[in-house]
Formats: sequence, structure tokens, C-alpha cells
Amino acid sequence: MAKQKTIFVCSNCGAQSPKWGGRCVQCGLWGTMEEEILSPASDSPAHATLAVSPPVSLPDIPEHNLERTPAGIGELDRVLGGGIVAGMAVLLGGEPGIGKSTLMLQTAQRVASAGRRVLYVTGEESLGQTRMRGRRLGADSAEIYVAAENSLENITGYIEEFSPDLVVVDTIQMIHRRDIPSAPGTVAQVRQCAVELVCLVKRRGCGLFLVGHITKEGSIAGPKVLEHLVDCVLYFEGDRFHSYRILRTIKNRYGSTNEIGVFEMTGSGLKDVLNPSVIFLAERDASQPGSAIAATVEGSRPLLVEVQALASRSAFSAPTRRAGGVDLNRLAMVLAILERHTPLCPSANDIFVSAVGGMQIAEPAADLSVAVAIASSIAQKPAPADCVFAAEIGLGGELRGATMAGMRLKEAEKLGFKQIVLAPSNAEALSGRSAIKVRSFRTIAEVLNEYC
Ligand code: TYD
Ligand code: MG
Repeated sequence: MAKQKTIFVCSNCGAQSPKWGGRCVQCGLWGTMEEEILSPASDSPAHATLAVSPPVSLPDIPEHNLERTPAGIGELDRVLGGGIVAGMAVLLGGEPGIGKSTLMLQTAQRVASAGRRVLYVTGEESLGQTRMRGRRLGADSAEIYVAAENSLENITGYIEEFSPDLVVVDTIQMIHRRDIPSAPGTVAQVRQCAVELVCLVKRRGCGLFLVGHITKEGSIAGPKVLEHLVDCVLYFEGDRFHSYRILRTIKNRYGSTNEIGVFEMTGSGLKDVLNPSVIFLAERDASQPGSAIAATVEGSRPLLVEVQALASRSAFSAPTRRAGGVDLNRLAMVLAILERHTPLCPSANDIFVSAVGGMQIAEPAADLSVAVAIASSIAQKPAPADCVFAAEIGLGGELRGATMAGMRLKEAEKLGFKQIVLAPSNAEALSGRSAIKVRSFRTIAEVLNEYC
């Protein structure tokens, strides 16, 4: 009998190697290399193909009809770019318990009640459990067909048989193809099953949601490799101990990326949060030192978020730095700038910084609010309650312009703030265009001199 050929595949990034190693040479993670047996079928490259067609001259290709079926949930439609496009494959990632199945069943209900057929494949829960969840969520449409199924062959059979308009596979890690010897959830299984499902829905023109678990490192477990196969990658942020959930677009071939949707988890499922700035500011106590409001923009949505800082005198030579919702490297940079370009001495303090409400702020324009919150805590002087901040801080301590400053200003105005602090370039462009006071400073030292 011919010897079985094996390779080793990283379950985080999908890198392949003929030899086993304790550490993946591509992504550097330890203990992620998994053995994969190559069957003759999976040995050959992608054998599931889209419809065969010879090359076509570019202008002769009929334009893609971007007709969208609304998912029926406002915040989900927003992150999808307006709805589900025919043949669109979406990967929905998130930690266990964050609300992926809840969102999918609610979506199934909305799509089905608009007269479309949904196939809901549940690989983790039984039919009874799905029915119970449905009762809680008010999902009872006869056009939702539920299959408790793990076999890819059966699922593709159901898709052919029921001709659904939308297919949900919850979760892709539970699905396996019989002729691939690896266990469900391994890279070989997940990749192959996803390729086949994606090709099938593209041929049939129906929508597909693949639900995927996330590892603690933050990548979609194993199926990090799936990100290339699908049209749209959505990722649930926030933690399951808070009621707010943020759904972020990581990739979208049919819309803009970095768009966010905000939901609240209630007793009867996920509810759209239409004005998230209000909830991110709800519990703010402006009389306390160590709080500053960042005027951020996520995708096309302006968002005001409270940034809190706590500085306490450190007992150790290497002070502690902790960040929640703010990038730790960015925080280190802001602290170095404060140390070098202002009279403050953050190096003598343990510093904790957190963005309130489970929000992750990635953009550099939040630098100024982080710096002001830290300075306010060190100086034990509250920042002005009616003021928001939006500027990047350069390594020389200078303030740099933020994108879409007008949008930030409008949001601040809408929520009743009286002043916004911007870099000079932004302030010039906006002067005289708003009811609130636009203030600009050249350097971080000047800002702190004025406010802290
Ligand atoms: P779930 O959607 O099963 O998460 P995932 O599929 O991402 O693992 O469940 C999310 C959590 O939300 C679960 O702990 C129970 C809770 N929950 C509610 O608070 N309200 C609801 O209506 C439902 C269905 C779940
Ligand atoms: Mg689930």
C-alpha cells in the first residue's frame, strides 16, 4: 500500500510545512502545527471550482447586479454595506457566548418573514435547542428550515434540494467532509468545506453566513485561512460580561471596511443601538479627574467614547501599564511623548487606560484624549466636561490632523458638547462652520497647559 503523505499546517495562519515544528515559522505562535494527512482528493489543488468559463474581454462582462436583500437588522445591514448580495459569502467570527448564533437566528427570522427561504445548519446545537432559542427570540417562521448536521455532503444536498435564499452554517468548525481523514475543525477540513460551500452559493446566487469561533489569540480559529475565501469578514467585539456588542467589518468586497454595528444583548436577543455615543457616555462622571472624551470615526460613523485613565504612584522601578480598548503600543508612545515634551512625569506612575463600554479604539486620532486623560489623572484636575478631543500626536509632541474632522465636530455638537480641540490644520478648515467652539493648539504641551 502506498505510504500516506502528511504535511503540517499551522492552525492559526495556515502556513504549511513538510516537517513538524514546535513553532510556526510564519506567524511565530507555539504549538499550532497540526498534522494533516493528504488524501489523493485533497492532494490536488482546489477541486471545487466556480462555473467553468473561458476568458472574457473586460467591457463584455455584464455588470454585477448589486441588488441587496436586507438582513432586516439595521446594524447588521450597515456592516454588510446595505444588505446581502446574491452569492455573497460572509464569515462571522467571535468568541463563544458573544451572540453569533443569536444574531444568525434573528437574521434568519427577518429574512424568512420577508418571504425568503433560509436553511439554518446547526452543527453544535440540537434541533430542540434551536427551537428553544427561536422561541426566546420570536423566531418562528415556517420558511426557516433547520438541520442539525455536520456532514458537508448532506448540507450541499439540502442546499440543492431546498433552494434557500440564505444559508447559515453555525459553525464551520463543526462541519466535515467524509473523505478527508483529518478531524472536524482542522485546517484541512475547515478550508475544504468552506471552499465548497462558497463555490456552491456563488453558483446558485444565494447568500451564505459561515459562523466561526475565535481562538484566544484573536484569529478565527484555523479558518484564519477562510478570510481569503469569503467576500466579507465580520467580527464580534466586546465581552460577554457587558451587554453591548460591537460588530466590526474586517473585510468587505461589497462595502466599506471598518464599519461598525452596535448591539445590546437583551432578554429577547440582540437589539440595534441607534445612537451609540449616548451609551458610551452614559455613566460618565465629568467631575472626576482622569476622563476625556475622544471624538472618533469608525468607518463612516462618528462616535464619542469616554477614555479613562488612572495614574497612581508606582512602588516599583518598572511601572505597570495596562490598556483596555486602547492599543498598548500606542499608549507606550503617548507616555513617552508626555515624558519628553511636557513637565509631567508618567514614568513615576502605574498607568491604567480604558475605553469605556467595551469599545476598541484603533485610530491615532484618539491619542490626544488618551494624553489628556492621563495628564488629568496625574494632575488630579478634571478635564472640562463640555469638551471633546480629536488629534493624533506626533513624536515631536505636535498635534496632527484627523480625517473627517467635520463629522466628529457634528457628532459633538449633536450631543451637546460646547468645544472641540483639534490640530491646527483641521481647525482652519472648519473655522466658522459650527455652533460649538473649535480650539486648536500646536503641541500637546500647549493643550495640557490650558486644560490640566
Ligand atoms: P450565543 O448566541 O449562543 O453565542 P455564540 O453563538 O456566539 O456562542 O449566546 C450568547 C449569550 O447571550 C448566551 O450566553 C446567552 C445570552 N442570550 C441573551 O442574553 N438573550 C437572548 O435572547 C439569547 C438568545 C441569548
Ligand atoms: Mg453559537
